Amino acid sequence: MVKVTYVAHDGARVTVEAEPGESVMQAALSNDVEGIIGECGGAMMCATCHCYVDEAWEVGAGARAEGEEDMLEGAASEVTGRSRLSCQIKLAPELDGLVVHLPEEQL
Ligand code: FES
Repeated sequence: MVKVTYVAHDGARVTVEAEPGESVMQAALSNDVEGIIGECGGAMMCATCHCYVDEAWEVGAGARAEGEEDMLEGAASEVTGRSRLSCQIKLAPELDGLVVHLPEEQL
C-alpha cells in the first residue's frame, strides 16, 4: 500500500492508504477525501482534481503529462509551478508518503 496525505486549504490533513497503480485522484475519491472532485473520472477533461504537489515531492511525482498544462488553465484556483491534475499522478511504492495540498476550490 502507498500512503498519501492530502492537506486541505484550511490545513486539515488526511492520510489514506491506496493501491499502487491508483491515481492520487482515485485514492481521494475512494477514501471520501473532500476537496477533490474528479468530475471526468480521470480522462483529463475537467481540472476538478487540481492539487499542488508538496515541495518535498515535486521531483518524485514526475512531470506533467502531455495536455495537462492546457487543462490546468481551466482550474478554478490559482495554478502554480507545483500544480498537477491528481488523476495524472499514478501511485507507486516510491511515492509512499506523498503529500499533496488541495486548492481552495475546484469549481
Ligand atoms: S479527474 Fe478530470 S482532469 Fe483529473
